[in-house]
Amino acid sequence: MCGIVGFIGMPVKGTLITDSLKKLEYRGYDSWGVAFLSKGRIESFRAVGSINKIPKKIQEISSNLAIGHTRWATHGRICKNNAHPHLSSGNDITLVHNGIIDNFSELKTRLSGNSFNSDTDSEVILKLIEEKMDSGSDLLHAVSFAVSLLKGSFALLVFSSIEPAKLIAVKNESPLLLGVSDKGIFAASDQIPLRNFTDRFVFLEDGDIALISKNSFECFDFSLNPVERKIIKVESNVTSSGKLKYSHFMLKEIMEQPFVLKDVLVQDKKNFSEISFLIKKSNLVFIANGTSFNACLFGKEFFSRIAGINPRVIEASEFPYELDFLPENSLIFALSQSGETADVLDSVRKARKKGFKIISMVNVFNSSLVRLSDKVIYLNCGEEIGVASTKAFTSQIALLFLLANSFAGKFDSALIELNSVSSLMQQAIDFNLDSVKALSAKIKSFGDVYFIGRNLNYAVALEAALKLKEISYIHAEAFQAGSLKHGPLALISKGIPVIVVAPKDKVFSDTINNAIEAKSRGAFIVGVSNESNEVFDFFIKLPKVNELLFPLVSIIPLQLLAFHTAVFLERNPDRPRNLAKSVTVK
Ligand code: M6R
Repeated sequence: MCGIVGFIGMPVKGTLITDSLKKLEYRGYDSWGVAFLSKGRIESFRAVGSINKIPKKIQEISSNLAIGHTRWATHGRICKNNAHPHLSSGNDITLVHNGIIDNFSELKTRLSGNSFNSDTDSEVILKLIEEKMDSGSDLLHAVSFAVSLLKGSFALLVFSSIEPAKLIAVKNESPLLLGVSDKGIFAASDQIPLRNFTDRFVFLEDGDIALISKNSFECFDFSLNPVERKIIKVESNVTSSGKLKYSHFMLKEIMEQPFVLKDVLVQDKKNFSEISFLIKKSNLVFIANGTSFNACLFGKEFFSRIAGINPRVIEASEFPYELDFLPENSLIFALSQSGETADVLDSVRKARKKGFKIISMVNVFNSSLVRLSDKVIYLNCGEEIGVASTKAFTSQIALLFLLANSFAGKFDSALIELNSVSSLMQQAIDFNLDSVKALSAKIKSFGDVYFIGRNLNYAVALEAALKLKEISYIHAEAFQAGSLKHGPLALISKGIPVIVVAPKDKVFSDTINNAIEAKSRGAFIVGVSNESNEVFDFFIKLPKVNELLFPLVSIIPLQLLAFHTAVFLERNPDRPRNLAKSVTVK
């Protein structure tokens, strides 16, 4: 979703801001814009679409104060006027915003004497600041006044040509951090665009206003009482953040899963025992969205099969409706790659208010979820840039398996077993690399693709269907294999692909029977298994592995299937339409 960057420091080229903004592209956006202070005036540029043709005026500009924004439309259609930065009527204040202002209609009514250039909720913030400065306030006090009236989520960057030595950053329930470098001080939605400049970050808290100058910063609460925020040095991630030899980030992230698993498994045994101890005393509830939600389904199965407890799994956007019915000893276990997903954060904040403890499993260092948690397990799988989550998913499954085993006193043996899966994941790639691409060439022509599985493998089917639909835009749906004849079988017609996730386990023959039922109605059956069967029209061959860990190998060719299908259809798997990597609004 929206991404923001800002800079104040020594004069830099305009392309430094556009290049940084490009590093936020992965979050998803439909338009973009930048504003610079140049020769005492604000120069701005906005456009719909991708950041590709950088106008000459930006390439040539030299500026020591700038802000930029990638917009993922919420309030107001996708058009140049709704793109950020917004400019005050006197062209002397400019602002970018990520988030949603819940009371914007109310505020717009209050500001009815003003003329608005956009349909966005963001422009009301600018107008409030402008009004206050027009009545004699300085920029900091005007921002403090404006934000005290706002309800909702907002990360803001603001500067004014009237006070050219200041950049102001505000954070409330939307991500924002500062990066302190030799060139000057940056602000951004996440660390990725700042990695080339610094490893020293300031993680702003909700309710913070930062007053930034070229070589220092001060933080305040919304009433301008000083608050202390420290600079934290963050080591670079384990994997390279570039695409390396791959055409797309998603492909790179799929292919690196076998060796990333080794890094993921470098975990602190004591942390796992402490978390296991907390779980023992509690009613365990998993919450997450999307792929992380699918990973929770494995958590539930692992805990019930290995640890003998039966946790609940609740989609984070539904969690607030369940909150009042949860037992007092509930322990909320939140999974999130980004640690910035709005529904997860909202649920966690509400759960904390009720006095529940929070455990999280997160990839991004010191993200908002981490700061709301009592205990954290880091995925350590390196930056995940592709919108479709891949390596974070396998890392989550591996660590949930490790945690359930830690609970059962088997941390060490589980660690050994998991380490040995790395080479089996590589085999899953090697066996299927070319054949899955050929399968994608067939799948791409279908409007519907179905995935079936039982038990843990139903969760694999769910995740495989999510991958295919989100990047290829083909309708893909998962069913419990046994439920086919209770309705979904009516969808099957000649040639429709049904992908059957069926390892050789005790339910193998039941699942094969369901595949036969679908085939009898004309389906084209793709078997995903470590055992061939005559019902399979196409076989995705997998190595033998402990049945609880089969998902770690079976999901990989299905990720590749989704990837190649999208590429065949000329859809960019890294940036699927309408989607964002980090879903920072509810
Ligand atoms: O960062 P999170 O794990 O909290 O993200 C949750 C979902 O938004 C995310 O998994 C989404 O469903 C992905 N696009 C799936 O590939």
